[in-house]
Amino acid sequence: MTDERTPDVLVVLGPRGETDAADRAFLLAAAGWAVGSAPGAMSLDRHCPTCGGADHGRPLVRRAGTAAGTAAGPGRRLDVSLSRAGSRVAVALSFAGPVGIDIESVDAVARAGFDDVAFNQVELAALAEVPAEGADRARATIWTGKEAALKAIGVGLRVDPRALTVSLPGSGGVAQPELSAEPGDGLPRLLPRLVRFDAGSGLAGAVAVFTTAGPVLRVLPAGSIRGRPPP
Ligand SMILES: CC(C)(COP(=O)(O)OP(=O)(O)OC[C@H]1O[C@@H](n2cnc3c(N)ncnc32)[C@H](O)[C@@H]1OP(=O)(O)O)[C@@H](O)C(=O)NCCC(=O)NCCS
Repeated sequence: MTDERTPDVLVVLGPRGETDAADRAFLLAAAGWAVGSAPGAMSLDRHCPTCGGADHGRPLVRRAGTAAGTAAGPGRRLDVSLSRAGSRVAVALSFAGPVGIDIESVDAVARAGFDDVAFNQVELAALAEVPAEGADRARATIWTGKEAALKAIGVGLRVDPRALTVSLPGSGGVAQPELSAEPGDGLPRLLPRLVRFDAGSGLAGAVAVFTTAGPVLRVLPAGSIRGRPPP
């Protein structure tokens, strides 16, 4: 991450609310802050691409009187995403393109015992090479990258996560996990880019965003959204 460029994606981390609706209210407050909108002038819709339902699926924010997704201003999109793990909630606000965020407890991913349904042969081989002390973190890095990507694409786990391959950072000087997929798996030809972030103690975090260049991420504490909005 670097602060030299205006961030493409703002990540705001906070304490998880008592209800899922409270977390969505936090997302809406963060989105309103990011675009300098008056409280109450923004609303959040959800859209399920499978059944068309409006009570689950990808979140979309809108400013009153505008189309969903155009909250940042006429013709200017603000894409958002939300994830919860343990006592934390994380929201992503993207000015660059559709975004997905995922946070997970490293221990919970290790305990899940879902390697066979979560990871493909390439990933299982890469994980087998990781020294024992880094294995749980590596597993969580791959899994959060996949979930973030599936949210950015909008399909969630309706697509088999093994259709995506997340390569671990570190090899060949690559600083971020990289995403690839075989064509024909119900995934778009162009895939989002992945960025890891520090989601807090014991957690792994990843953002996936459709951008042409390596996205710049800025991670902020919840209290930031009471201050001045970003330039
Ligand atoms: C999206 C999904 C990967 C989230 O997994 P998770 O790790 O359990 O939960 P997280 O806390 O990280 O994320 C939950 C948030 O993901 C977002 N989300 C849900 N579906 C999404 C989708 N298709 N695309 C992008 N984001 C989505 C929502 O903001 C949700 O919060 P909400 O329930 O308050 O609205 C998983 O729930 C999933 O795949 N759901 C889709 C299943 C589906 O399509 N079923 C068909 C229904 S008709």
